[in-house]
Amino acid sequence: MEDIILNAQSLKSVIHCGAGAFATYATKLGGKLFIITDSNVYALYKGLIEKTFGNAPTFVLPAGEKSKSRNSLFKIFDKMIDCGVTRSSTVVALGGGVVGDIAGLAASMYMRGIKVVQIPTTLLAQVDSSVGGKTAIDYKGVKNVLGAFYQPSEVIVDPLFLSTLPARELRCGLGEIIKYSAIDCGIYGTLSQNSDKLFDLKFLENVTADCIRHKAKVVTEDERDTTGARKTLNLGHTTGHAFELYYKRKSHGEFVLIGTYYELYIAEKKGICESCYADSLRALITKVIKNIPAYADAEKAALMAKFDKKNDEQSIVSMIVPKSVGESYELKLPIAEYAKLIGECAEKIRGEKC
Ligand code: NAD
Ligand code: GLY
Repeated sequence: MEDIILNAQSLKSVIHCGAGAFATYATKLGGKLFIITDSNVYALYKGLIEKTFGNAPTFVLPAGEKSKSRNSLFKIFDKMIDCGVTRSSTVVALGGGVVGDIAGLAASMYMRGIKVVQIPTTLLAQVDSSVGGKTAIDYKGVKNVLGAFYQPSEVIVDPLFLSTLPARELRCGLGEIIKYSAIDCGIYGTLSQNSDKLFDLKFLENVTADCIRHKAKVVTEDERDTTGARKTLNLGHTTGHAFELYYKRKSHGEFVLIGTYYELYIAEKKGICESCYADSLRALITKVIKNIPAYADAEKAALMAKFDKKNDEQSIVSMIVPKSVGESYELKLPIAEYAKLIGECAEKIRGEKC
C-alpha cells in the first residue's frame, strides 16, 4: 500500500493505493457520510457498505452512463436535503466513473461545496476518473458538458473491487492504461514487456499505481487544463468521444482504444508518428480489442468531434496523437479533413479484414 499525493492548487488530494486500502481508510472516514453508488455495485457490495458505513444514507443510481444526467443530479440533491446533509458532511462516491463524476459534481454544488471522497470500483475509475477532480454530467447529447473541477480530499483505490469486474469492464480500464502507455515511457515499457499479462489482476495492481502517479504529476502541474500538460491525458479521446456520441453501443474505455487506433492512422499519414512505434501501440490495442470496428459511417460519426472541449472553434478539430515513446503531439485539423481521414482508416480496416 502507498499514498500518492496530488498537490493541486485548490486542494491536496491523498490517494491511498493498494490491497487493504479500503479496510484501512474507508473505516476511518469521520463525520456524517452520504454514500452514492450504483445498482450493480450496491447488489454486489451491500453487506460491505453497511458493515463499513453503518446506517449512513445511501443513494443508489441505476447503473450506466444514462445516470450522468440532470435528472439524477437533482434526485441526489433531493435526498441530500431530505437526509439533512450539512456543510460538514462528506459525500462518498463508491463506484465506477459514472458514480464518481456525478457524485463529485453534486458535492461541488451542494451548499457551494462539501467534502468528497472517491472510492473507485472499476479499473477505469481507479487509473483515471477518480483522480484529478474532473466532475460532470452529460446534457443535450453532449458528454461531460456540465461540470466542475473539484478535487476529492481522499481517493481509496483497492484492487479488492476488481475481482467482480466483468471482462468487458477490465477492457475499458485497459483503454485508459494503454492511453497512459502512449504518454509515459515507463508505462509503455512495462506494458510492451508484459503484453501477455494485461488481464492479470496482480500485474494491473502495480500498473494502476504507475498510472495514478503519472496523473497526479500532470494534474499537480495543470489542475484546470489550461497549460496543455493535462490535455495529453485526452489522447485518443477526440475520436473516442465522437464515436461514443454517435454509436452509443460501447463504453468509454473501449471507445478510447478504438479512437486511439483511428487517430494512429492520422498521425502516421501526417508524418507525426513513425510506423514501427504506431505498430507497437496497435499491437497493444488489439490485445485488448481483437477486432477494431470498421464503421461504415465513420466519416459521419467523426463529425461529432465538433463538440470536443479541446476545440477553440467547431470547424477545427484538436486531437492528441502519439508521436514517439513518451511523447504526444496536439494536432489540429479542419473538421472535413479529419472526418475524411477517419473514413479512410475505416476503409483500410475493412480491406485488412477481407
Ligand atoms: P461505469 O461507472 O458505468 O461502470 C461500468 C460498469 O461496471 C457499470 O455497469 C457498473 O455498475 C459496473 N461496476 C462498477 N464497479 C463494479 C465492480 N467492482 N464489480 C462489478 N461491476 C462493477 O463506467 P466506468 O467505465 O467506470 O467509467 C466511465 C465514465 O467515466 C464515463 O462517464 C466517462 O466519461 C467517465 N470518465 C471520467 C474521467 C474523469 O477524469 N472524471 C476520466 C475517464 C472517464
Ligand atoms: N481524464 C482526463 C483528465 O482527467 O484530464
